[in-house]
Amino acid sequence: MSDNKREQRKNEHVEIAMAQQDATVSDFDGIRFVHHSIPNIDVDDVDLTSHLKDFTLNQPLYINAMTGGSEWTKQINEKLAVIARETGMAMAVGSTHAALRNSKMASSFTVVRDTNPNGIIFSNVGADVPVDKAIESVRLLDAQALQVHVNAPQELVMPEGNRTFSTWMDNLAQIVKRVDVPVIVKEVGFGMSKETIKNLNEIGISYVDVSGRGGTNFVDIENERRTYKDMDYLGQWGQTTVESLLESTAYQQDMNILASGGVRTPLDAVKCLALGASAVGMSRPFLNQVEHNGITETLNYTEQFIEHMKKIMTMLDARTIKDLKQTQMVLSPKLQSWIEQRNLDIH
Ligand SMILES: Cc1cc2nc3c(=O)[nH]c(=O)nc-3n(C[C@H](O)[C@H](O)[C@H](O)COP(=O)(O)O)c2cc1C
Repeated sequence: MSDNKREQRKNEHVEIAMAQQDATVSDFDGIRFVHHSIPNIDVDDVDLTSHLKDFTLNQPLYINAMTGGSEWTKQINEKLAVIARETGMAMAVGSTHAALRNSKMASSFTVVRDTNPNGIIFSNVGADVPVDKAIESVRLLDAQALQVHVNAPQELVMPEGNRTFSTWMDNLAQIVKRVDVPVIVKEVGFGMSKETIKNLNEIGISYVDVSGRGGTNFVDIENERRTYKDMDYLGQWGQTTVESLLESTAYQQDMNILASGGVRTPLDAVKCLALGASAVGMSRPFLNQVEHNGITETLNYTEQFIEHMKKIMTMLDARTIKDLKQTQMVLSPKLQSWIEQRNLDIH
């Protein structure tokens, strides 16, 4: 595939994603916190710092992987990097394959480090990338961590997508051995099962981003790019973010579980943390904000989002993210059924 075609594909992904609507019913609504009338803490007591195994996040919210690899998406990356710098959020770039193949594309990613020299930045590659390229991807951005995306449904619906996956697990095992920063294995909106998380844990992966169904939908995006748009029936494939977090419960002691996929409100984000996530990523909301409303509005949106998380934590008497894990929740019959049928040990 030519570099021009790759550039065009990235722009198409961004365009189609921006036009996408969220599902009207969200699995986050299937979780309710129990309200207690008299909090024992003040909003100022809430500390949102998230301590991960290898680094600390000032905010438990991060900008998840999206862009780079074209002129347009270089500009988006620059704007997102300003938001990350000003708010102290970590930020992931989109897949760096374009830069690894053609150094002329590098600046559409390195603009993120140039804009935010002291920030926490995650680089991003696919699970089929050769180990030396994974190392190069980290160096390109002087990244604190490497996201490796696993996106089989997307590839299979993508007309020009990958059709071979049997080498992924071995390749991931090599990458985690050789890359000298934490490796985050990341879905792209289809969620994870406890079996996937277990297998990743066994090869030495300590971080997963479950990125579940409910927000940006790459089956629908790739289906839009198909001549006959004939794979729309797969639109509901995968686990939601809530189901994925429930699936991850047994591994939350040993691993850092990151949550993304359809997180749209501060309440969704706090629910992810209460379900055991160490941090929460959003993609499309930040993309739409910077492209439609500009940097000042997006900064305001982000600051309000974080402030609202603190208010919700105050109502829950949770000073820290650790406290949130003790919060009482009531789950819908649908989620309860998932837990029972999947034999998940949830306390
Ligand atoms: C325009 C766009 C491009 C994306 N590109 C990547 C990518 O290159 N690598 C990756 O790991 N995920 C990519 N994603 C997936 C997101 O990181 C995230 O997993 C997914 O969008 C779900 O989050 P959301 O519902 O908040 O958008 C992309 C998402 C969007 C919207």
